[in-house]
Amino acid sequence: MLHTLERLPDDPILGLAAACRADPNPDKVDLTVGIYMDEDGVCPVFGAIRDAQRALVEEETSKAYLPPAGDPDFNTGMRALVFGGDSGALADGRVSSLAAPGGCGALRIGAEIARVASPEAKVWVSDPTWPVHMPLIGSVGLEFEKYRYYDAPSHGVDFDGMVEDLKRAKSGDLVLLHGCCHNPCGADLTLEQWGVIAELAERQGFLPFIDIAYQGLGDGLEADAAGLRLLAERLPEMIVAASCSKNMGLYRERTGIAQFLCRDAGNAEAILSQAKVAARRIYSMPPAHGALLAGRVLAAPALEAAWRDELHTMCLRINGLREALVEKLEATTGRDFAFIRREKGMFSFLGLSEEQTRRLREEYSVYMLGSSRINVAGINAANIDYVADAVARVIA
Ligand code: LMR
Repeated sequence: MLHTLERLPDDPILGLAAACRADPNPDKVDLTVGIYMDEDGVCPVFGAIRDAQRALVEEETSKAYLPPAGDPDFNTGMRALVFGGDSGALADGRVSSLAAPGGCGALRIGAEIARVASPEAKVWVSDPTWPVHMPLIGSVGLEFEKYRYYDAPSHGVDFDGMVEDLKRAKSGDLVLLHGCCHNPCGADLTLEQWGVIAELAERQGFLPFIDIAYQGLGDGLEADAAGLRLLAERLPEMIVAASCSKNMGLYRERTGIAQFLCRDAGNAEAILSQAKVAARRIYSMPPAHGALLAGRVLAAPALEAAWRDELHTMCLRINGLREALVEKLEATTGRDFAFIRREKGMFSFLGLSEEQTRRLREEYSVYMLGSSRINVAGINAANIDYVADAVARVIA
């Protein structure tokens, strides 16, 4: 029967990254997948993670399964990182969490819980959103609606459109929000706008489902979680999927966590039991290695401080690249690219047509998504002029 299955198209992001890897042009530039790359084009291992790994290798005496919810240090550290150490909800025991295989695993567990709690729920997703959100969350059988989000002419958020659309979200629906560093557009909500979303959620009873995969890479760890924390202060319930791929560089270790803000500690415990059962029927146990490293970093003040410093340096570099890119693109094209400066995190839509991105790829070996999403962290001093010239040529 297997012979009846057809070959599927490549993943829109990973397929382009593979094409770039196969490109023999020595000048090629990979701006596809959202991984942080340093000035040498390398995705580095954080020093704090390396130190934690050395200690773990020395001290680990067993590879037996972790408990179903994952390593306790990881869970405690991640809850504080996301909700804030001084969170009232944490103090009241209203947040439960389950370590998961990456942010994707956390999204899937969140979706599983949502479907059990509200089988007819619609999941409202931003237009556009990360292309994997819909297949990943939809795989549990939930249906989608889109809300307006990115306004291409202004390169910002169409907040009036977003609010108008979310006024149709009902009690029992979920609204998927990017906690920070919107993927793919880099246009984020202001804190005031998060306040409006909180009011809407209170009035209409929808459940925020927050994907926070880039905390620390926009304006810093605390600022990037401010919108999520505002919602957590005001709302009784929320689902959060967090990831350590980007902010701890643990991509391949699949280190994420599903977190549930609940009405009370009893509900939090009940939801955790549901999440454990959901995980057991999909992949059984959480992966250990990345979570043990992250847990060690978050539990040891010196390692945590070193990690925060390294992350801050990355964040500064990305924001510096945004500045440099604006200058170079404006110089080569004569057009306004100031919006790149206003965006947060790794991504930006350059505002090119699909045909222009194809020409960039085929004629200049500059790889970005067909939507013209670039990974800003793929730019460096050695390739910035080449990229800016190539962009100028295809839009001339
Ligand atoms: C991206 O959007 O490029 C990243 O989140 C990596 C991925 O899995 O797509």
